[in-house]
Amino acid sequence: MAHWSPEDIPWESFDPALVDPDILKVVKAAAMVEKNAADYAAYLRNVFPDDPAFQKAAGRWAEEEVQHGEVLGRWAGLADPDFDFAGRFSAFRDGYKIPVDSTVSVRGSRSCELVARCVVEVGTSSYYSALRDAAEEPVLKAICGHIADDEFRHYKLFYSYLARYQEAERPSRWAKVKVVLNRIAESDDDELSYAYYAANGKGEAYDRQSNADAYVARAYGFYNPAVVKRGIAMSMDAAGLPSGGIPARMLSALAWNIMDWRRRRLAQAVAA
Ligand SMILES: [Fe+2]
Ligand SMILES: [Fe+2]
Repeated sequence: MAHWSPEDIPWESFDPALVDPDILKVVKAAAMVEKNAADYAAYLRNVFPDDPAFQKAAGRWAEEEVQHGEVLGRWAGLADPDFDFAGRFSAFRDGYKIPVDSTVSVRGSRSCELVARCVVEVGTSSYYSALRDAAEEPVLKAICGHIADDEFRHYKLFYSYLARYQEAERPSRWAKVKVVLNRIAESDDDELSYAYYAANGKGEAYDRQSNADAYVARAYGFYNPAVVKRGIAMSMDAAGLPSGGIPARMLSALAWNIMDWRRRRLAQAVAA
């Protein structure tokens, strides 16, 4: 059972005057990806067929992710009464598929699959923490607070299974670092850009790069250095690297500067 429900959200406090149009666009895109989590649960159940405890946990995890999507979509409908959540989500599903039939992890091992799941939860916990801090609209702030709490718990869930599986599989540290780097690089892949297009497009043909740029130009604007620092530390933990000390601090500063540079460069391009 989820730790909270849509009834816990103070919907009556919604204030349309405080809706930021850029935040609205990225929230619509996030609602698509979150609501699609049942497919990931099917894939995880295939990859861990002989681990009923993990399968059960993955089922609960997916229910929470789907709830994130539904609540974000409901908020987007309040902020933009013309937003057709069901229709947009169906368009997203028609155009974006994940390989749910695979019976082995696309990451090469179960440990590496769990590292990748940790990285995804680093991304979402950072994203909703940043959005919670940036949002002025009180209902969205409350929603993002609940979701961020869930995403940190999800990270801990996958991390706990990672600790168990890596004891048996003994993946090298380099193998785990590679998964972290690859999964971070994949945040530029089709899923988010297609979600952004499906949620915000106006009938134009899909162009991956322009939609990815439009998403990043907006989403990166909500981050702050503290959120990035914590995300880097969590990623280094998942890779089996020391998450304190000078290397972690240097990596945090580098990540923040790259994000800030990309945001500024793309904001100019998107506005042009
Ligand atoms: Fe989520
Ligand atoms: Fe999550």
